[in-house]
Amino acid sequence: MLKNFHIKRYAGLKLFSFLMVLKIMKEFWDQRYGNTKYAYGEEPNSWFKYRIDGMKPGKILLPGEGEGRNGIYAARLGWEVHAFDQSIEGKRKAEKLAQKYNVEIDYKVGELTELAFDLELYDAVSLVFTHFAPGLREKYHRLLGTYLKRGGRFIIEGFSKEQLSMISESDSGGGPKNIDMLYSIEELQHDFADYDIKELRKEIVHLDEGIFHNGMSSVIRFDGRKS
Ligand SMILES: C[S@@+](CC[C@H](N)C(=O)[O-])C[C@H]1O[C@@H](n2cnc3c(N)ncnc32)[C@H](O)[C@@H]1O
Repeated sequence: MLKNFHIKRYAGLKLFSFLMVLKIMKEFWDQRYGNTKYAYGEEPNSWFKYRIDGMKPGKILLPGEGEGRNGIYAARLGWEVHAFDQSIEGKRKAEKLAQKYNVEIDYKVGELTELAFDLELYDAVSLVFTHFAPGLREKYHRLLGTYLKRGGRFIIEGFSKEQLSMISESDSGGGPKNIDMLYSIEELQHDFADYDIKELRKEIVHLDEGIFHNGMSSVIRFDGRKS
Protein backbone atom coordinates (compact mmCIF):
# COMPACT_ATOMS: atom_id res chain seq x y z
CA MET A 1 0.00 0.00 0.00
CA LEU A 2 2.76 2.42 1.10
CA LYS A 3 4.90 1.19 -1.80
CA ASN A 4 2.06 1.97 -4.28
CA PHE A 5 1.71 5.43 -2.79
CA HIS A 6 5.43 6.11 -3.34
CA ILE A 7 5.31 4.78 -6.92
CA LYS A 8 2.31 7.00 -7.74
CA ARG A 9 3.94 10.01 -6.08
CA TYR A 10 7.17 9.43 -8.05
CA ALA A 11 5.24 9.09 -11.34
CA GLY A 12 3.31 12.29 -10.50
CA LEU A 13 6.54 14.20 -9.84
CA LYS A 14 8.08 12.93 -13.08
CA LEU A 15 5.02 14.05 -15.06
CA PHE A 16 5.05 17.44 -13.32
CA SER A 17 8.74 18.05 -14.14
CA PHE A 18 8.18 16.91 -17.77
CA LEU A 19 5.30 19.41 -18.10
CA MET A 20 7.42 22.18 -16.55
CA VAL A 21 10.27 21.51 -19.04
CA LEU A 22 7.75 21.63 -21.91
CA LYS A 23 6.37 24.96 -20.68
CA ILE A 24 9.85 26.49 -20.40
CA MET A 25 10.86 25.21 -23.88
CA LYS A 26 7.66 26.51 -25.46
CA GLU A 27 8.21 29.97 -23.93
CA PHE A 28 11.84 29.93 -25.15
CA TRP A 29 10.86 29.17 -28.77
CA ASP A 30 7.91 31.58 -28.81
CA GLN A 31 10.26 34.33 -27.68
CA ARG A 32 12.91 33.41 -30.28
CA TYR A 33 10.37 33.40 -33.13
CA GLY A 34 8.62 36.57 -31.88
CA ASN A 35 11.19 38.66 -33.81
CA THR A 36 10.30 39.88 -37.32
CA LYS A 37 13.55 38.37 -38.67
CA TYR A 38 13.74 34.62 -39.34
CA ALA A 39 15.88 32.98 -36.64
CA TYR A 40 17.37 30.39 -39.07
CA GLY A 41 16.70 32.32 -42.28
CA GLU A 42 14.11 31.77 -44.97
CA GLU A 43 16.20 29.37 -47.11
CA PRO A 44 16.08 25.60 -46.51
CA ASN A 45 18.88 23.84 -44.67
CA SER A 46 21.42 22.69 -47.29
CA TRP A 47 21.49 18.97 -46.29
CA PHE A 48 17.69 18.87 -46.31
CA LYS A 49 17.64 20.58 -49.72
CA TYR A 50 20.26 18.23 -51.14
CA ARG A 51 18.36 15.11 -50.10
CA ILE A 52 14.87 16.37 -51.00
CA ASP A 53 15.97 17.70 -54.39
CA GLY A 54 16.89 14.14 -55.37
CA MET A 55 13.54 12.60 -54.40
CA LYS A 56 10.16 12.30 -56.11
CA PRO A 57 7.67 14.54 -54.21
CA GLY A 58 5.21 12.72 -51.95
CA LYS A 59 4.04 13.25 -48.37
CA ILE A 60 6.51 14.60 -45.85
CA LEU A 61 6.31 15.09 -42.06
CA LEU A 62 8.49 17.79 -40.48
CA PRO A 63 8.61 17.64 -36.65
CA GLY A 64 10.00 20.76 -34.92
CA GLU A 65 9.52 22.79 -38.08
CA GLY A 66 10.01 26.20 -36.44
CA GLU A 67 9.46 29.07 -38.86
CA GLY A 68 8.80 26.86 -41.87
CA ARG A 69 11.89 27.30 -44.07
CA ASN A 70 12.20 23.59 -44.93
CA GLY A 71 8.50 22.83 -45.28
CA ILE A 72 7.85 25.81 -47.54
CA TYR A 73 10.76 24.76 -49.74
CA ALA A 74 9.38 21.20 -50.00
CA ALA A 75 5.89 22.55 -50.79
CA ARG A 76 7.37 24.65 -53.60
CA LEU A 77 8.75 21.42 -55.08
CA GLY A 78 5.29 19.81 -54.97
CA TRP A 79 5.49 17.87 -51.67
CA GLU A 80 2.37 17.55 -49.48
CA VAL A 81 3.78 18.97 -46.26
CA HIS A 82 2.62 18.14 -42.74
CA ALA A 83 4.59 19.92 -40.04
CA PHE A 84 4.37 20.63 -36.34
CA ASP A 85 6.11 22.52 -33.59
CA GLN A 86 5.38 23.43 -29.99
CA SER A 87 5.64 27.12 -30.87
CA ILE A 88 2.60 29.09 -32.01
CA GLU A 89 4.96 31.91 -33.05
CA GLY A 90 6.79 29.42 -35.30
CA LYS A 91 3.50 28.58 -37.01
CA ARG A 92 2.71 32.28 -37.50
CA LYS A 93 6.07 32.88 -39.21
CA ALA A 94 5.69 29.71 -41.34
CA GLU A 95 2.27 30.90 -42.56
CA LYS A 96 3.81 34.23 -43.53
CA LEU A 97 6.54 32.46 -45.53
CA ALA A 98 3.94 30.19 -47.18
CA GLN A 99 1.99 33.27 -48.30
CA LYS A 100 5.14 34.78 -49.77
CA TYR A 101 5.59 31.72 -52.02
CA ASN A 102 1.89 31.10 -52.53
CA VAL A 103 1.98 27.53 -51.16
CA GLU A 104 0.12 25.74 -48.36
CA ILE A 105 1.34 23.44 -45.62
CA ASP A 106 -0.57 21.72 -42.82
CA TYR A 107 1.11 22.99 -39.62
CA LYS A 108 -0.06 21.81 -36.19
CA VAL A 109 0.98 23.33 -32.87
CA GLY A 110 1.91 20.91 -30.11
CA GLU A 111 4.53 18.70 -28.53
CA LEU A 112 5.29 15.46 -30.38
CA THR A 113 3.46 13.17 -27.94
CA GLU A 114 0.37 15.43 -27.87
CA LEU A 115 -0.17 14.89 -31.60
CA ALA A 116 -0.99 11.81 -33.65
CA PHE A 117 -0.36 11.15 -37.32
CA ASP A 118 -1.37 8.31 -39.64
CA LEU A 119 0.85 5.26 -39.36
CA GLU A 120 3.03 4.33 -42.36
CA LEU A 121 1.71 7.26 -44.42
CA TYR A 122 4.78 9.38 -45.12
CA ASP A 123 7.39 9.07 -47.86
CA ALA A 124 9.80 11.14 -45.76
CA VAL A 125 10.22 12.36 -42.18
CA SER A 126 12.88 14.97 -41.53
CA LEU A 127 14.35 16.45 -38.37
CA VAL A 128 16.44 19.57 -38.99
CA PHE A 129 18.14 20.69 -35.78
CA THR A 130 15.23 19.26 -33.78
CA HIS A 131 17.10 18.32 -30.61
CA PHE A 132 14.86 16.56 -28.11
CA ALA A 133 14.96 16.98 -24.34
CA PRO A 134 17.34 14.53 -22.56
CA GLY A 135 16.09 10.96 -22.37
CA LEU A 136 13.53 11.29 -25.18
CA ARG A 137 15.63 10.94 -28.36
CA GLU A 138 15.44 7.17 -28.92
CA LYS A 139 11.74 6.91 -28.02
CA TYR A 140 10.89 9.87 -30.28
CA HIS A 141 12.93 8.55 -33.22
CA ARG A 142 11.11 5.23 -32.97
CA LEU A 143 7.70 6.89 -32.69
CA LEU A 144 8.37 9.10 -35.73
CA GLY A 145 9.51 6.04 -37.67
CA THR A 146 6.03 4.51 -37.26
CA TYR A 147 4.62 7.35 -39.40
CA LEU A 148 7.00 6.48 -42.23
CA LYS A 149 6.03 4.08 -45.05
CA ARG A 150 8.24 1.06 -45.74
CA GLY A 151 10.85 2.38 -48.15
CA GLY A 152 10.32 5.92 -46.83
CA ARG A 153 13.28 8.10 -45.89
CA PHE A 154 14.27 9.49 -42.50
CA ILE A 155 16.51 12.54 -42.98
CA ILE A 156 18.31 14.28 -40.11
CA GLU A 157 20.72 17.11 -39.61
CA GLY A 158 21.64 18.06 -36.07
CA PHE A 159 24.61 19.28 -34.07
CA SER A 160 27.05 16.62 -32.90
CA LYS A 161 28.33 16.33 -29.32
CA GLU A 162 31.62 17.93 -30.53
CA GLN A 163 29.70 21.13 -31.19
CA LEU A 164 29.96 21.86 -27.45
CA SER A 165 33.75 22.28 -27.60
CA MET A 166 33.44 24.32 -30.82
CA ILE A 167 31.00 26.66 -29.11
CA SER A 168 33.28 27.13 -26.11
CA GLU A 169 36.32 27.80 -28.38
CA SER A 170 34.56 30.42 -30.51
CA ASP A 171 32.06 31.58 -27.91
CA SER A 172 29.40 31.55 -30.64
CA GLY A 173 27.51 29.01 -32.75
CA GLY A 174 24.23 27.21 -32.46
CA GLY A 175 22.77 24.21 -30.69
CA PRO A 176 21.80 23.06 -27.21
CA LYS A 177 24.42 23.37 -24.46
CA ASN A 178 23.38 20.01 -22.96
CA ILE A 179 25.48 17.12 -24.33
CA ASP A 180 22.58 14.68 -23.91
CA MET A 181 20.56 16.65 -26.48
CA LEU A 182 23.32 16.53 -29.12
CA TYR A 183 23.79 13.71 -31.65
CA SER A 184 26.44 11.04 -32.04
CA ILE A 185 26.97 8.55 -34.88
CA GLU A 186 26.62 5.65 -32.40
CA GLU A 187 23.25 6.88 -31.09
CA LEU A 188 21.81 7.16 -34.59
CA GLN A 189 23.21 3.73 -35.55
CA HIS A 190 21.41 2.38 -32.48
CA ASP A 191 18.10 4.21 -33.05
CA PHE A 192 17.96 3.29 -36.76
CA ALA A 193 19.53 -0.19 -36.55
CA ASP A 194 16.74 -1.69 -38.69
CA TYR A 195 17.05 0.97 -41.44
CA ASP A 196 19.07 0.77 -44.63
CA ILE A 197 21.52 3.57 -43.80
CA LYS A 198 22.36 5.49 -46.98
CA GLU A 199 24.39 8.27 -45.32
CA LEU A 200 25.57 8.79 -41.77
CA ARG A 201 28.48 11.11 -41.21
CA LYS A 202 29.87 13.70 -38.88
CA GLU A 203 31.15 16.82 -40.62
CA ILE A 204 32.51 20.23 -39.87
CA VAL A 205 30.49 22.59 -42.03
CA HIS A 206 30.13 26.31 -42.39
CA LEU A 207 26.59 27.29 -41.44
CA ASP A 208 25.07 30.51 -42.67
CA GLU A 209 21.47 30.17 -41.52
CA GLY A 210 19.82 33.34 -40.27
CA ILE A 211 20.72 34.89 -36.92
CA PHE A 212 21.50 31.79 -34.83
CA HIS A 213 23.32 29.22 -37.01
CA ASN A 214 26.56 30.81 -38.12
CA GLY A 215 30.17 29.77 -38.51
CA MET A 216 32.04 26.48 -38.43
CA SER A 217 29.91 23.82 -36.80
CA SER A 218 30.08 20.10 -36.09
CA VAL A 219 26.97 18.39 -37.45
CA ILE A 220 25.70 14.88 -38.05
CA ARG A 221 23.94 14.15 -41.32
CA PHE A 222 21.75 11.10 -41.70
CA ASP A 223 19.62 9.59 -44.43
CA GLY A 224 18.07 6.17 -43.84
CA ARG A 225 15.50 4.08 -45.71
CA LYS A 226 12.90 2.23 -43.61
CA SER A 227 13.03 -1.45 -44.48
C1 LIG B 1 16.58 24.80 -33.69
S1 LIG B 1 14.86 24.84 -34.02
C2 LIG B 1 14.85 24.24 -35.70
C3 LIG B 1 13.63 24.67 -36.46
C4 LIG B 1 13.56 24.15 -37.89
N1 LIG B 1 13.59 22.70 -37.95
C5 LIG B 1 14.65 24.73 -38.75
O1 LIG B 1 15.58 24.00 -39.12
O2 LIG B 1 14.57 25.93 -39.05
C6 LIG B 1 14.23 23.44 -33.10
C7 LIG B 1 12.69 23.37 -33.09
O3 LIG B 1 12.27 22.11 -32.60
C8 LIG B 1 11.08 22.31 -31.86
N2 LIG B 1 10.90 21.15 -30.96
C9 LIG B 1 11.86 20.55 -30.20
N3 LIG B 1 11.34 19.52 -29.52
C10 LIG B 1 10.03 19.46 -29.87
C11 LIG B 1 8.96 18.59 -29.48
N4 LIG B 1 9.16 17.60 -28.63
N5 LIG B 1 7.73 18.82 -30.02
C12 LIG B 1 7.53 19.85 -30.88
N6 LIG B 1 8.50 20.70 -31.26
C13 LIG B 1 9.73 20.50 -30.77
C14 LIG B 1 11.30 23.63 -31.15
O4 LIG B 1 10.09 24.21 -30.74
C15 LIG B 1 12.03 24.44 -32.23
O5 LIG B 1 11.15 25.19 -33.00
